[in-house]
Amino acid sequence: MTSPFLPPPRMLMGPGPIDADPRVLRAMSGQLIGQFDPQMTACMDQTMALYRQVFCTANQWTFLIDSTSRGAIEASLVSLLEPGDTVLVPSFGRFGHLLTEIASRCGAEVEAIHVPWGSVFDPQQIADAIRTVRPKVVAIVQGDTSTTMLQPLEDIGKICRDAGVLLYCDATASIGGNPLHTDEWQLDVVTVGLQKCLCGPSGSAPITIGERAVEVIEARRHVEAGIRAEYHVNGQGPRIASNYFDLAMIMDYWGPERLNHHTEATSMLYGSLECARILIEEGLDAAISRHALNGQALAEGLLAMNLKLYGTQANRMHNVVGVYIPEGVTGDAVRHSMLHDYGIEIGTAFGPLDGVIWRIGTMGYNARPDAVLKTLACLEQCLLSEKHALTSGAGAAAAKSIYASAAQ
Ligand SMILES: Cc1ncc(COP(=O)(O)O)c(C=O)c1O
Repeated sequence: MTSPFLPPPRMLMGPGPIDADPRVLRAMSGQLIGQFDPQMTACMDQTMALYRQVFCTANQWTFLIDSTSRGAIEASLVSLLEPGDTVLVPSFGRFGHLLTEIASRCGAEVEAIHVPWGSVFDPQQIADAIRTVRPKVVAIVQGDTSTTMLQPLEDIGKICRDAGVLLYCDATASIGGNPLHTDEWQLDVVTVGLQKCLCGPSGSAPITIGERAVEVIEARRHVEAGIRAEYHVNGQGPRIASNYFDLAMIMDYWGPERLNHHTEATSMLYGSLECARILIEEGLDAAISRHALNGQALAEGLLAMNLKLYGTQANRMHNVVGVYIPEGVTGDAVRHSMLHDYGIEIGTAFGPLDGVIWRIGTMGYNARPDAVLKTLACLEQCLLSEKHALTSGAGAAAAKSIYASAAQ
């Protein structure tokens, strides 16, 4: 008999996942109930209601996709885009490339525009590209963890609305730690995940869909044979090219008809509900301020350790900081020592930033002063071992002074 897997003690201070809130783990250990049990459907309805608050929306169609965040991206794009449709992807990091990749697998004509990594788009650049490309959908990331940048979205929704274009947004990494106003900013579809600022594990992806997008999806509704009743009328549009990620069918499952689709991932549902309860209990504004404060303390601590931060700091997400690996320091050796000597995970980076920066997160359950201070203190030891010049104690002291001024 093999022994059970016992996860070692760790503190996850990378770009996500992070340690789950113990309340979420507790909620997930609840016993399963049948998927049409009235208590189960009531739990689904309660989850929808709470996620409307999380997304700042009145959208009826706010529910969960049973997958990691990437699945909800795929569900959105495959359900909105028909082969031959044009999609504009303003890309400022790895997850812009992911939108491009998924949209092209849907058979869409993808027009990607780019800004250098470490920066974000001016809304005018997107307006100009819309005029040239005339897309059906603009697909954009709000917070791209690969570069730590947060794309301002306030004006982009209106630009898309005026041009008659749908706006899809991947807010996986930013929701709960940075402002996101689905209705006020006129975002048509937003998808997220639990494993960043929402304090949960990956494996459930909340989504919200506004009326304009619902219309497009409903026109493609084809109820599956075997559960189709005579009164079901198929939409005029082409059938959505994925069964598992067919938003029309998933909406029928979460909607009043409760038409069977997949078997709901009950334990993830319990966990997702608890994530939303925790956030709403704290308050959206309070959670965002907590992320801003801990992010600032971490950044100031790193600067005080004679390190340089990556990217335009005015556009940095609250919950993850990119920091240059200093000259003469081996990035992987520091990460290895952080993990094995101190039990703290910090992030490496992708593509052109691999070996150039570390990414350190302060998010969700780990957006706490003690987590930031421990990370800085241990990082200092690792940097000293690598002969990086710094003043002992300066990092934690700088972070503490940020907390002290915030407390005044
Ligand atoms: C912005 C963004 N989008 C999408 C993803 C993919 O999420 P998942 O790994 O849960 O599928 C991530 C994961 O880090 C992310 O940061």
